[in-house]
Amino acid sequence: MPGHEIIGEEERREILDVLSRKVLFRYEFDAQREGVYKVETFEKEFARYCGVRHALAVSSGTAALHVALAALGVGPGDEVITQGFTFVATWEAILEAGAVPVFAEIDETLCLDPDDLEARITPRTRAVIPVHMCGAQARVEEIVSAAGRHGVPVIEDTAQSCGGRFGQRALGSFGALGTFSFDSVKTVTTGEGGMVITDDEELYLRASEYHDHGHDHDPSVGRGLEKRRFIGFNYRMMELQGALGLAQLRKLDPVILPGQRENKRILKEALEKHDGITFRDLPDPAGDSATFLIFFLPTAEQAQAFNRVLADQGAGAVYWHDNLWHYYEQWEHLLEARTPLAGGWPFRSPDGTPRCGYEPAALPRTAEILSRALTIPIRIRMDEQLPVLIEAINKAAGAAL
Ligand SMILES: Cc1ncc(COP(=O)(O)O)c(C=O)c1O
Repeated sequence: MPGHEIIGEEERREILDVLSRKVLFRYEFDAQREGVYKVETFEKEFARYCGVRHALAVSSGTAALHVALAALGVGPGDEVITQGFTFVATWEAILEAGAVPVFAEIDETLCLDPDDLEARITPRTRAVIPVHMCGAQARVEEIVSAAGRHGVPVIEDTAQSCGGRFGQRALGSFGALGTFSFDSVKTVTTGEGGMVITDDEELYLRASEYHDHGHDHDPSVGRGLEKRRFIGFNYRMMELQGALGLAQLRKLDPVILPGQRENKRILKEALEKHDGITFRDLPDPAGDSATFLIFFLPTAEQAQAFNRVLADQGAGAVYWHDNLWHYYEQWEHLLEARTPLAGGWPFRSPDGTPRCGYEPAALPRTAEILSRALTIPIRIRMDEQLPVLIEAINKAAGAAL
């Protein structure tokens, strides 16, 4: 999964290119920067990679979600549907926008179930955020169609699936907007950072303005004289991050994806030898970015027993069902409506009336699927780990199946 594994000479060269000109800001300093615009170049190359017209670099994947919601005009009074298996950032961004997250079930893709999504659409639904979890696709075409039947735009949270595809198209390019994260454990990393992509000129302009205090980025005047249509915030990416992103993006297809895919293939082959193990449903296996290998045991008890043996061998898998940051039932701060604000916002209106509430047992299908799932994170370089993992898998299968 992590692009940091292969940070090398290319990243160093890009960073020094910035430092030698002493321009860290993405805008202005035109003479001093001698034509070097790392963030802008990163945006252009990323848009080309994804096959879309526009890309806007931002300070994180969480910021990308918030900027995308602002571009769509989502706010108080609106509902946004997402899934109960995702990183907390997805619904934090919805709450931060002032809207209310509505959680839908996942299916065996580990991503949003299109049928359950459609059943939860109401007249208040203003956006849908499917999450391409753990490196691979949601049933994105079905999700976009289901939302489209109700006139609801889709934001694809592609934080965990940079480089993933469905058919010929990049994940993130199916909905009105797509968002990415380049944080320190992501496939392409800039330390912290994110990207918003879209084909829609007006959504791009709104996102670009919102992420930079409302600046309209009029090239004919200096920054101090630029105008604004609405208020904004600061979610800008800086040149050092743009420099890292460029070097990393150029390694995505030639180095990162092939390395991960080969390691995943080897481990999957080891698991396939054992009857009773099944695998995550991949709508397009060829477009899997292969950052994770997810498999199912017949029962929750067997999954836990299997993982105990893996852990004893020093090769424990991720059991998302018990993970505190990625699964609805473990988000006690959300379920108990905990907020730093005395008035209770965003769970309560300023007049004290409840705005939303969440029940731990609301997503039984998600709970059942995750209870049987184990996940092996895939790295780009795993030469030393592979034999240990394969031996651990064989021992675990002997004990748990
Ligand atoms: C699904 C998902 N969405 C959003 C984010 C937020 O990204 P960032 O850490 O860059 O804010 C993450 C980060 O892990 C994520 O996994």
